[in-house]
Amino acid sequence: MQQLLDAVGAVPGELAGRVAVVTGASRGIGRAAAVALAALGAQVAVVDTADAGEQAAEQIRAAGGVARFFRADVADEAAVAHLSRAVRAELDAASIVVNNAILCPVAPVEQMSTALWDRVVAVNLRGAFLVTRAFLAQLRAAEKGTLVNMVSTDAMPGLSAYRASKQGLVGLTQSLAAEVGEGLERLKAILDEIAADFQRLPPFVRPLARSGFRARTGKAIQTWQHESEALLARVRNGRPCDRARLRSDLERLIAYVEGVPAQTARFTRDPAVLAEVQQRMEGYARDLAALQAALAEDNRETASG
Ligand SMILES: NC(=O)c1ccc[n+]([C@@H]2O[C@H](COP(=O)([O-])OP(=O)(O)OC[C@H]3O[C@@H](n4cnc5c(N)ncnc54)[C@H](O)[C@@H]3O)[C@@H](O)[C@H]2O)c1
Repeated sequence: MQQLLDAVGAVPGELAGRVAVVTGASRGIGRAAAVALAALGAQVAVVDTADAGEQAAEQIRAAGGVARFFRADVADEAAVAHLSRAVRAELDAASIVVNNAILCPVAPVEQMSTALWDRVVAVNLRGAFLVTRAFLAQLRAAEKGTLVNMVSTDAMPGLSAYRASKQGLVGLTQSLAAEVGEGLERLKAILDEIAADFQRLPPFVRPLARSGFRARTGKAIQTWQHESEALLARVRNGRPCDRARLRSDLERLIAYVEGVPAQTARFTRDPAVLAEVQQRMEGYARDLAALQAALAEDNRETASG
């Protein structure tokens, strides 16, 4: 284990003071992750339905680490709600959560019973959702809240329910990332990059570019930067943000970045510059649209739920 941690450049003690929750940690990759997190100083909540969870916790304690076994079925809403309270009470608020628990039975589609399909999806996808939702407030309150969702990319015969649930987990992860911060962090980064671009422009073009930005987006770049910073701080603190307003702001910002290549073409014919601007703006538009889509998705769920 030490060799492995050295190989990835992990620093002993770098997770001291943090509580890590690992589901499905009684064996396999989950157990290895729990042992590694403990070796780096984290107190580990070993979560599993199997008795072997106690042995995994014992292995960590024998090596000098701190671990507790919490028996819980991740697909059981009440059990997961209890788990998040128990972890906080018996260890501390979690700042790392690893959604690792799975069922992975092999059955061709024609032989897969509905009950088996439902159970696999319930453990692998609903379980990850329940655990994430239950611990989100703790992760948000943490200085470096970290959520790891274990996915899988290989399609193999007989694994339809497993693969379908893992594809679903990718979607959940992407939406959540945009929802709770990553998308906002990217928004802030894009605004910082646009502000830096203005600084790089020749002085006589700067006021023109700035006023063009303000005219098309409705706000000066500094206002956008301040607002996105404040929004990010709100979301990190677990407070709600005005999604409708953010979506309409994003619409204007996307329209602006999409128009930049044409604006640039009015000032230069240099193909290298035009290609670079085109590529950058397409990247910005893609990231902003992803954030917007995640917000819209979340809204639909709220509306239908
Ligand atoms: N093993 C691989 O080759 C591989 C490849 C890609 C991704 N992964 C991912 O890595 C993770 C771990 O894989 P693994 O091969 O170590 O799995 P595993 O089957 O060896 O272990 C799964 C663990 O989850 C526990 N578990 C099952 N149902 C549970 C429930 N309802 N509540 C709580 N715990 C439950 C089991 O008891 C077991 O300890 C999975 O998310 C898997 O999708 C594994």
